[in-house]
Amino acid sequence: MKGIILAGGAGTRLHPITKVTSKQLLPVYNKPMIFYPLETLLKAGITDILIIIAPENAGDFVRLLGSGKEFGAKFTYEVQEKPEGLAQAFIIGASFIGNDSVAMILGDNLFEDDFSEAVKNFKSGASIFLKDVPDPQRFGIAEIDADLNVLSVEEKPKIPKSKYAITGLYMYDNTVVEKAKNITPSARGELEITGLHDMYLKEGNLNAVILKGKWLDTGTFESLHEASCFAREKALKQSHLQVTEMRIKERLV
Ligand code: TTP
Repeated sequence: MKGIILAGGAGTRLHPITKVTSKQLLPVYNKPMIFYPLETLLKAGITDILIIIAPENAGDFVRLLGSGKEFGAKFTYEVQEKPEGLAQAFIIGASFIGNDSVAMILGDNLFEDDFSEAVKNFKSGASIFLKDVPDPQRFGIAEIDADLNVLSVEEKPKIPKSKYAITGLYMYDNTVVEKAKNITPSARGELEITGLHDMYLKEGNLNAVILKGKWLDTGTFESLHEASCFAREKALKQSHLQVTEMRIKERLV
């Protein structure tokens, strides 16, 4: 499975800090934001990765991430001229995807879960990953039954049918490229990813998984701050763990 990190967009909700740089280059505790979705893909075993960026900051991403060698991966870059929707990624990325299946992750999403099993077990159709949220009107939502069958999907509904947000990591079979070409732009002029999920749903090929760990979408000041606190907590726990392990080893020697 190949990977796409979608890291364009305008980041208007974070103005003025995103006026001169990209949201995905902002620090989340001790790393640029894009490192987190990148690490999620790498941990899942995906190393052939297309990074889609806006033209204004394209050079900064290449300087930061390079060829991918440093990460044990291979990076390809494409520019999205205008933020015309998440599903446009599969049109921009058509030649990169070739005949493979693909996982797409949003450049501003942080996940605690490990997706390696989901990647290993993926066969066909589409897989979406859901999280119970207190404010479902802000997200794409999936209505599910007790057996995790998806009944409907809706983009930012005023009266949501469920509390399950569709988070920013998606896995698709190769038909995603043709499907994306057949989406008509929404009222806000975007190729909506919900349109894509609706196509998979109508074919009976949309699978849902509920996330266990934390999920953060860092598009607002509040969520950006929360993500930094969370990343700091995790990093400190990790370094405490390393010190404890070192002390145990020293005693044993
Ligand atoms: P959003 O947070 O929906 O949009 P944005 O980043 O432009 O921010 P704002 O709403 O504050 O203006 O985007 C989610 C992620 O997807 C984010 O990482 C940017 C990326 N994205 C693109 O790369 N291209 C697009 O066309 C869109 C809509 C989003």
